[in-house]
Order: sequence, then C-alpha cells, then structure tokens
Amino acid sequence: MAGKILILYYSSTGNTEKMAKLVESGAKESGVSVAARRVNDIKKVDELLEYDGIIVGSPTYYGTMAYQVKQLLDRSVALHGKLEGKVGAAFSSSANIGGGNETTITDILNALLIHGMVVQGDPQGGHYGVVSIGAPDGRVEEQCRRLGRRVASLVKRLSWPARNQ
Ligand SMILES: Cc1cc2nc3c(=O)[nH]c(=O)nc-3n(C[C@H](O)[C@H](O)[C@H](O)COP(=O)(O)O)c2cc1C
Repeated sequence: MAGKILILYYSSTGNTEKMAKLVESGAKESGVSVAARRVNDIKKVDELLEYDGIIVGSPTYYGTMAYQVKQLLDRSVALHGKLEGKVGAAFSSSANIGGGNETTITDILNALLIHGMVVQGDPQGGHYGVVSIGAPDGRVEEQCRRLGRRVASLVKRLSWPARNQ
C-alpha cells in the first residue's frame, strides 16, 4: 500500500475527535493506510517516523493549540531533520467564529514547516486547514473528508522510492 498517514489529535469534549474520524475516513477513501491516534497514545516520539503524512488536530485554546499537542511537537525536536519531506496538515475546533481557530492551525503548521514538512494550502474551503465551530456540521464534515483525501493524494505523489535515500 502506497503511503501511511497519521492523524494525531487531542480532544477534551469530542469535537476535534469527530473531525479526526472524518479526516480519517477521507484519507481511507484514497486507499492509503491511516491511523487516528490521540497525542497521549504516542509513547515514543520515534513512532512519527513510520508515517509519510502527519495531520495534527487540536481544539483552539486561547487562540492556539492545546498544551498536550504543543508538548508532543516539542518532544519531536528529538527527530529534528528526520521528518523532512513528509506531508503535514492541521485542523481545529473552536467555540467561536474568529475565536482563533486559524491562528491555532498556523501555529501547528509553523512547527511542521520547521521540520521541513510539505504543507499544501487549499484554494477552496479551509485555506490553511479545516476549522469547525463546536462539533462539525455537514459542511465541515465534507471539508474534513476533503482534507484527508488531499493529504492522501499528495502523500502518494511524493512517495517516490528515492525520497528517503
Ligand atoms: C482552556 C480553553 C480555552 C479555550 N479557548 C478558546 C478560544 O480562544 N477561542 C474559542 O473560540 N474557543 C476556545 N475554547 C473552546 C474550545 O476551543 C471548543 O469548545 C472546542 O470545540 C473544544 O474542542 P474538543 O471538543 O475537541 O475538546 C476554549 C476552551 C478551553 C477549555
């Protein structure tokens, strides 16, 4: 099977988790191997090396990611330089429109870009990633599945044999 994607998320009240499951179903449609895992299920940060694409989801807390997500990103310094060329993406649930969900996404993407990961914007829908106000509604559900499909498609296109040489 070409490509392996990790959807890595934290969720306290279930909204971000619902988004994670939808992103997972979109990626699965594209015939890649997908795992949706909570950040605290990652015992060894080296586990991130197994994946060709990493999609990170967090609730918006004070306009940025939850500390649990930041903590894992900070632990990923142990892999500095080793995530280069993997595909990255992000999504977030907030309570309010204009409540900081886009800044949450760009904060996550900053870390992924510093790792040398490849981030694809989207000319339609969520340009930086997918945002939801509370639980995903029908429109967000489709955007989550679309994010999964798009990351899977890019992973397949970038998974040429020479990438890890
Ligand atoms: C500590 C904390 C900080 C929050 N900060 C914001 C915020 O800055 N903007 C916002 O719109 N919602 C904020 N919220 C609301 C959550 O982002 C929102 O309820 C989200 O849907 C929770 O996602 P979850 O169900 O995956 O935990 C905050 C919630 C908590 C608990």
